Amino acid sequence: MSNSNYSQISELLHQETYLGNGELKPWNGKKDEVYSTISSTSEYSKTLLGTVPHMDEATALEVLEHACKAFDKGKGTWPTSKVAFRIKCMEKFVEQMKTQREKVVKLLMWEIGKSLPDSEKEFDRTVEYIYDTIEDYKQLDRDSAKFSKRDNVNAHIRRGPLGVVLCLGPYNYPLNETFALLIPALIMGNTVIFKPAKHGVLLLSPLLEAFRSSFPAGVVNIIYGRGREVAAPIMKSGRIDVLALIGNSKSAIALQDQHPYKNRLRLVLGLEAKNPAIILPDADLDLAISECISGTLSFNGQRCTALKIIHVHEDIREEFNKRFAKRVDELKFGNPWEEKVQLTPLPEPDKPQYIQELITDAKEKGAEILNAKGGQISENYIFPAVLYPVTQDMRVYQEEQFGPVIPIKPFNSIEELLDEIADSNYGQQVSLFGKDIEQIAPLIDTLVNLVCRVNLNSSCQRGPDVFPFTGRKDSAVGTLSVHDALRSFSIRTFVASKDNPYNNNILQELLASKESNFVNTDYIL
Ligand code: G3H
Repeated sequence: MSNSNYSQISELLHQETYLGNGELKPWNGKKDEVYSTISSTSEYSKTLLGTVPHMDEATALEVLEHACKAFDKGKGTWPTSKVAFRIKCMEKFVEQMKTQREKVVKLLMWEIGKSLPDSEKEFDRTVEYIYDTIEDYKQLDRDSAKFSKRDNVNAHIRRGPLGVVLCLGPYNYPLNETFALLIPALIMGNTVIFKPAKHGVLLLSPLLEAFRSSFPAGVVNIIYGRGREVAAPIMKSGRIDVLALIGNSKSAIALQDQHPYKNRLRLVLGLEAKNPAIILPDADLDLAISECISGTLSFNGQRCTALKIIHVHEDIREEFNKRFAKRVDELKFGNPWEEKVQLTPLPEPDKPQYIQELITDAKEKGAEILNAKGGQISENYIFPAVLYPVTQDMRVYQEEQFGPVIPIKPFNSIEELLDEIADSNYGQQVSLFGKDIEQIAPLIDTLVNLVCRVNLNSSCQRGPDVFPFTGRKDSAVGTLSVHDALRSFSIRTFVASKDNPYNNNILQELLASKESNFVNTDYIL
């Protein structure tokens, strides 16, 4: 598709169905309009993209029933099927998904304002994630195709599904982050109810038919609407076994609180973060500045992994601040499909106002805006302000801004800085810039105990997706990566028998007959 096709919305997309029980069921109730904050006219006005169902509690509970029926108390075809069958369904899905790339990429740009290269990357990365998951699952299955023997007991140990998963994704990676939950949950034999985020919802429409035709009825269900109207009653039923959510801890806690049997609820959560960059006096400033630009401002800072505060050593702060502020002002703002665009419209209509409040608060408490364009506001954007010096009493220090504003705080004592990072509510990642190994070594040894990834002379990021992605404190529950996610959505379960001729004969017969999908040592090559 050429960029000019991307820049026009020629027809509205009305999502008139939802996916339940293997059918695209018509929705005749209330609808929600979906708007883009991108204007399609010279005079600014938001653009209507289409509509989605505004589902109600009764329909949500009906869909829950479908998901429970498909799991069928562990007796369902999906949780008891052979691994090879689930892989076949997933392969069918991903092949169909690939044919929808352009439509999804266009909607990613219009719905959440992600640049064309980043939208394409999100799509391709997700497809790769699915293939990698399939390969990893095959390996997991091969590793389980054996018996272990200990103390006269034979054991055939595998990983089994947990049950019914409620899956909620974020708006900033509506495809990748959501699928990084959905795909491992499904392939491990769970059944899933998935509700897209408020922004980034229509882009799933081109994939609904692929979901419908690839998986057995009720295995994957897609609902629309407000969290408190559809997700809360589902949780309240007590029939959800796993809450898989990428978002913020407030929504995660509110949903957990609805569940009547908390000990039965497994959590897989990716939550907020406030990843710091630490710039040591001997850091390569060209490198540190480039990495901090991408770390703070890729997708306008709307990434859980974004650098959300920069701690710069007093000795170099003047040089760093001057050069960094200049680089920020050189960034190009424009619509997502425009060439070389780095800053793009914010999908949340209230975000420019919110960021402005953070800037005003910081200025009132003594910070200055270091860059000329910082804080320039329009209908759908606010130019990133580089704020210095930031102090702990400022909102921009305390809150996860999730948008284009960059707080810089000076430091002298690394000990004090480590204490500050330890006191933070978050513990996802850190970026450490410097080269003197005598300084770096003890820092690394402490920082790895405060966060879950120390990025040496590079910005924070989730990828490559085969690496563990997790956090401490309010930043995550559970670990995600291609490999770890398969574990997060499953539990070890096994068949054990005393090692005697009677039992061993039965086991041999079971294996030879291939009657059991569990007690099975077939190899998937
Ligand atoms: O929003 C959080 C995402 O996991 C970030 O992923 O580091 O690849 O942009 P990323």
